This record gives sequence, C-alpha cells and structure tokens, in this order.
Amino acid sequence: MFDEYGIPRGAEFDEAALPKLYHFVYCSRAAGGVDDAEVARIVETAQRNNLAHGITGVLVFGSGVFFQWIEGPAAEIRKLIATLHRDKRHYDIVSLSQSEEERERLYPNWDMEKVEAGDIRLVLQDALESTDDKNNRVALKRILKHLDSDSLNSLG
Ligand SMILES: Cc1cc2nc3c(=O)[nH]c(=O)nc-3n(C[C@H](O)[C@H](O)[C@H](O)COP(=O)(O)O)c2cc1C
Repeated sequence: MFDEYGIPRGAEFDEAALPKLYHFVYCSRAAGGVDDAEVARIVETAQRNNLAHGITGVLVFGSGVFFQWIEGPAAEIRKLIATLHRDKRHYDIVSLSQSEEERERLYPNWDMEKVEAGDIRLVLQDALESTDDKNNRVALKRILKHLDSDSLNSLG
C-alpha cells in the first residue's frame, strides 16, 4: 500500500497518467436578433449542460462573432459539436482546431468573456493565414468583412 517513505504505491504513476481530453475550437457569426439577452441564455444553458458532461471551456462574444473553446471527454465533445451545428442562433461555423491529447485542462472552469472586435479580428486573421481549407477561408473572410463593416458603422 505505502512505500518506505509513506507515499502510496502507484502515486507517481497516477500523477503521470493525465486524462485524454478532446478539444474543439471554432468561430461563428451570431444570427440576426441574437442580442445580449440571448447570449446570456446560451451561457446559462452551457453552464448547466457542460458541468453535467465534464465539459469546460470559454465562450467569447463580440461584434456579432462567437469564438468558443470546449474541452472534455471525446464522446461528449462530439455530441456537443453536432448540437452546435444544429443551433440556428449562429452560422458560418469555422472549425479552427480539434484533437485529442493527454494533458491538463486549459480551462478548468467554464467561462464567458466579452471582447472587442479588434481582439477577435486578430484571432481570425491568424486562423486565415494558417488554414488551407477552402470553405474555412471563405467563411473566415466573410466574418472579417462583417467585423470591418461593423467597426465602420460604429464610427459613424
Ligand atoms: C455560440 C453557441 C455556443 C454554445 N455553447 C454551448 C455549450 O458550450 N454547451 C451547451 O450545452 N450548449 C451550448 N450551446 C447551446 C446548444 O446549441 C443547444 O441549444 C443546447 O445545448 C440545448 O440544450 P438544452 O437541450 O438543455 O436546452 C451554444 C449555442 C451557441 C449558439
């Protein structure tokens, strides 16, 4: 049970055995009519469901664009991805990264952040430069164009 130092046997092994985590990162455009109240409802649902399914992450929203990182057991994340694709409150969903790795959670809790268009623009511009997928490029360019016209509108 314990070694000569009083440390439980197998403790080192357990520490090394990190759980397998699946992560999915995407961005999307909010559908017309999705206001702060609707975003609050999305966050409330996410908080309730994700906790029950071992999913954590962060949802970022700004200038009509969503950006979300979710991580958890592969089967649960895959189910949520399918649910997200059916949700009419957003469209132009662009998958930015997904894979399964043995590691600690990047976001051990569930979080929501509101950001400025400029911050989202940087992330999307970066994604555009690193993707070869034609559909992703088209959608990302559409989202960037929307962000640009949005900031022009707010100027005046
Ligand atoms: C941008 C966006 C992010 C969402 N994120 C989550 C999420 O992290 N977890 C979740 O359960 N639902 C999320 N949803 C809501 C789901 O699409 C779906 O409406 C919900 O899971 C249904 O849950 P319910 O059957 O408990 O109402 C999100 C929706 C949108 C538009």
